[in-house]
Amino acid sequence: MSVESTVRPVTTSRLAEMKQNGEKISMITSYDFSMAKIVDAAGIDIILVGDSAANVMAGYETTLPITLDMMIYHGRCVTRAVKRAFVVVDMPFGSYQGDPKLALASAVRIMKETEADGVKLEGGVEVLESIKMITSAGIPVMGHLGLTPQSIHQFGTYGVRAKGEAEAEKLIHDAQLLSQAGCFGIVLEKIPSALAARVTREVPVPVIGIGAGAGTDGQVLVVHDMLGMNKGFSPKFLRRYADLHTIMTEAVEHYIGDVKSGDFPNENECY
Ligand code: KIV
Repeated sequence: MSVESTVRPVTTSRLAEMKQNGEKISMITSYDFSMAKIVDAAGIDIILVGDSAANVMAGYETTLPITLDMMIYHGRCVTRAVKRAFVVVDMPFGSYQGDPKLALASAVRIMKETEADGVKLEGGVEVLESIKMITSAGIPVMGHLGLTPQSIHQFGTYGVRAKGEAEAEKLIHDAQLLSQAGCFGIVLEKIPSALAARVTREVPVPVIGIGAGAGTDGQVLVVHDMLGMNKGFSPKFLRRYADLHTIMTEAVEHYIGDVKSGDFPNENECY
């Protein structure tokens, strides 16, 4: 494979340029080859191989159980499909917190073994040394503030974060620290719109929101949620663009009926 063929057209500089030009950035998750091929061909700017794979792919209640090996597997499946989008792989719980050398080793594994374009990790000042260590190795890092699902046991709820002044001030400070430490972008999850808009104005790097209102530089959604594959998950911020749960259920029921009745396969479907 030539060097050129591994370089995808959306880069960190292109994303920075989009913020400067006021051009909104589209981001979506994917975890496998077939889905990544579809969302990339549709023209998405960033594909996030999110640790939400723990929920939507593996069926865990939280994102905590997913391992570095599992994230690398999903990352590899996605990058094989992608020609244009910037691919970011989430660093899983336990692969970077409290130990900058471990963080660098985990990020290097992700970059080498998945051929992704960057990594994402959750937290502010608590993980700053890990972020500095990873960016010093030339690896693009995306931050993630607000609702950080890897800390669910500390928060105790998936409710809106930073509604109070103290938490909002900390979030603004964390966003500035992340940007100064070299993060190329920051995800803000489930925080008040006014706070997200303020952070977006005050930091020079692209800010991507999920449940953070319209004032950010871009939006991210979990692909299974926006395609309506998960009927049980209906937060206020989620817009469903399809009802794949119904479409897939009806298709499978139709197939079962055809098999049971002997209608499938017909003579044109046989050798
Ligand atoms: O893992 C994930 O899908 C995420 C998004 C919700 C931003 O981190």
